[in-house]
Amino acid sequence: MFERLPSGIPGLDEVIEGGFPFPSVILVLGEPGTGKTTFGMQSLFWGAKQGETNIYMTGVAEPVFMVKKFMSKFDFYDEELVKSGKVQFWDLGTSIQTMGPKKALSTIADVVRQTKAQRIVIDPLPLSHLFASAFDYRKYLYEFLTALRNLNVLTTIIGEKTPASIADIEAYMVDGLIFLELKTLDNPLVYKNLMRVRKLRGTNHSKDVLSMELSIEGINVFRME
Ligand SMILES: Nc1ncnc2c1ncn2[C@@H]1O[C@H](COP(=O)(O)OP(=O)(O)O)[C@@H](O)[C@H]1O
Ligand SMILES: [Mg+2]
Repeated sequence: MFERLPSGIPGLDEVIEGGFPFPSVILVLGEPGTGKTTFGMQSLFWGAKQGETNIYMTGVAEPVFMVKKFMSKFDFYDEELVKSGKVQFWDLGTSIQTMGPKKALSTIADVVRQTKAQRIVIDPLPLSHLFASAFDYRKYLYEFLTALRNLNVLTTIIGEKTPASIADIEAYMVDGLIFLELKTLDNPLVYKNLMRVRKLRGTNHSKDVLSMELSIEGINVFRME
């Protein structure tokens, strides 16, 4: 058997045998506004409350101060945990631009090593187009994912992709794949947040479409009747 680490998202752990395999790399995919950043941040704060040291790394989507500004509105955001260094924020954007993608990947691994972080969120991993070829990217991604698994960390990578375009190498190489969606169900005028566990290695997970409530409390997941 292997260790699991709860996601810290209410309702999700119950349908994934108690949590994510540890260590592992989970990819969260969804269109804008589906709750990806919230998902990652809520998991980091939940873990930090249990005493973990957790890191949010932003790529090139949004600067750290913007992410903090919006996330601090959620109930789970705890300024004390940020001040005490239990939740840390790292801006990867500049290092990717100045050092290039290969160095950026090794920087992430170095940061995890130095801080002894238990979970990290990389939001997003914007590197594929920076490599000369798909083969090069795959090779580096393989080394990167292997390094992370050896470092004993739960990594959540946020992907700015729609579930329809998941047949990418990242999706094949990670241990878990979670889809977040905004869809109309019975009422065509009302969009609902939905979640689906598409893949989770070593886990008898629910394959149902799950209902997701996105409120000031953060994300709550429910089985649909
Ligand atoms: N305080 C809040 N109460 C309810 N819903 C919120 C609140 N703050 C943000 N949201 C919802 O969360 C969405 C943004 O979630 P976010 O995690 O940033 O999405 P993504 O990273 O997938 O683009 C907003 O578009 C809004 O629908
Ligand atoms: Mg986001």
